[in-house]
Amino acid sequence: MSQVPEFDSRSHWANAAVPQIPGSLTPGAEFRRRLLPSSGVHAVLDVGCGPRPVWIGLGLDIARRIGCDPNREALRSARASDGRAHFVCASGTDLPLADGSVDAVTLIAVLTVVPDTHDAQRVIAEALRVVRPGGVVAIADFLYDPRNPAYRDRYAEMGFSGELIARDAQGAILYRARHWRTDEIDSMMDGRADRQDLHLGQVSSRTGNPLTGFEVFYRRRAVPARECPSGGRPDVESGLRRPGGEG
Ligand SMILES: C[S@@+](CC[C@H](N)C(=O)[O-])C[C@H]1O[C@@H](n2cnc3c(N)ncnc32)[C@H](O)[C@@H]1O
Repeated sequence: MSQVPEFDSRSHWANAAVPQIPGSLTPGAEFRRRLLPSSGVHAVLDVGCGPRPVWIGLGLDIARRIGCDPNREALRSARASDGRAHFVCASGTDLPLADGSVDAVTLIAVLTVVPDTHDAQRVIAEALRVVRPGGVVAIADFLYDPRNPAYRDRYAEMGFSGELIARDAQGAILYRARHWRTDEIDSMMDGRADRQDLHLGQVSSRTGNPLTGFEVFYRRRAVPARECPSGGRPDVESGLRRPGGEG
């Protein structure tokens, strides 16, 4: 692995100009279906909403809409497109929201710009804290695929950890990124949510490279798996735990 220059992701994303915020990942029909009011979603938090909150792109009519991003300029653009939504300038690692206060949390191309494992775990832990039991954490992102020839050299540069460096046409560093495996995201849920569904599909990167994208949906448990009596199993529909042995 070559020597990689220091790069401060936090200050980069807080200060990036809006045209420099990539937005090549568009969630599909399943994502939309999971966020419909008829699916029980009346309050949504879009973490790392950037200038394009998820509910606008998906045409969702959700009563309570909250966007969160560390970038103030992005939030100004987002606010201009939806003056009735609420926007907060914050990192997903420290959400200024009460426990269980929303029905769904979305993370679209956000974990990819949080390459540090500890920070990514914090983002997931916060998403699980603010979503209500039985609520949804919906994630769309780029899959780590070391067989993808468009990325092999860049993965190799970072020791095949999934991290990569985004550069401009002149080779200057733009930001550090990471492509995650879905099992890494499963384990970040730390037994506090059940995976409902996973969809893979061909998507494009910021620069038009073909790569695999994923959409994955988790339902928050009422009680973490490690605190459940043995023999029980999660009732994924209600998010509640059934007593052991019950059908
Ligand atoms: C690739 S953009 C995606 C924006 C938007 N979700 C979309 O799909 O168009 C990543 C966004 O995550 C934001 N971001 C970076 N670090 C973050 C963090 N720690 N917590 C929350 N958002 C973060 C960036 O400011 C940026 O707006």
